[in-house]
Amino acid sequence: MKPIIAPSVLASDFANLQSEVEMLNESQADWLHIDIMDGRFVPNISFGFPVLQAIQRHAKKPLDVHLMIVEPELYIEQFREAGAEIISVHLEACNHLHRTIQQIKATGAKAGIALNPHTSVQLLDDVIADVDLVCLMSVNPGFGGQKFIENTYRKIEALKNLIIARNSKALIEIDGGVNQQNAPLLLEKGADALVAGSFVFNSADPLQTIANLKNQA
Ligand code: DX5
Ligand code: ZN
Repeated sequence: MKPIIAPSVLASDFANLQSEVEMLNESQADWLHIDIMDGRFVPNISFGFPVLQAIQRHAKKPLDVHLMIVEPELYIEQFREAGAEIISVHLEACNHLHRTIQQIKATGAKAGIALNPHTSVQLLDDVIADVDLVCLMSVNPGFGGQKFIENTYRKIEALKNLIIARNSKALIEIDGGVNQQNAPLLLEKGADALVAGSFVFNSADPLQTIANLKNQA
């Protein structure tokens, strides 16, 4: 099975957003990964609804929205209306994670949970059967272009075991520092979806870079 490739729009040229989205439409990317940062949950602010809506107007692929915000439950319906197909909230940002997962599903979106590098996958034991996706952060969230954290490989194995033990259908997504070097081992360990920001958009030929990620052995 080929991996799901989700280029992160955060690393694109915001002054040419339409052509960047059109490039992704033409590419072998499966999803567009959308990073929402609030300056509270993470020490950075990215963009909000007007930009997301502008992306949606041109995108022909599902929007995979990664909420790095406090109190995400206040905005779930609004993100769905802005075009999100998958909505991931951070476990660390939710006091009532089970309720928030149900809230996401009630909108018709797929529900994801993102975990910071320090958060054990074992904390998902009681909700894993209910979620569609787990986004393992392989950098500390807040910025693109950071170095991949090697402990991620171990977490993928542990998460895979948990998914099997609980008969969950959750996909495993890896986010942060993904490139052509670490992708093969990530997939071998059990990753289903790879997010890649700077590796795609800083490359000389983003279309080819996406194709290479998609079609690796
Ligand atoms: C980091 C974001 C990532 C980021 C990945 O907080 O969640 O999605 O855009 O960028 P790269 O691939 O450059 O690490
Ligand atoms: Zn992300």
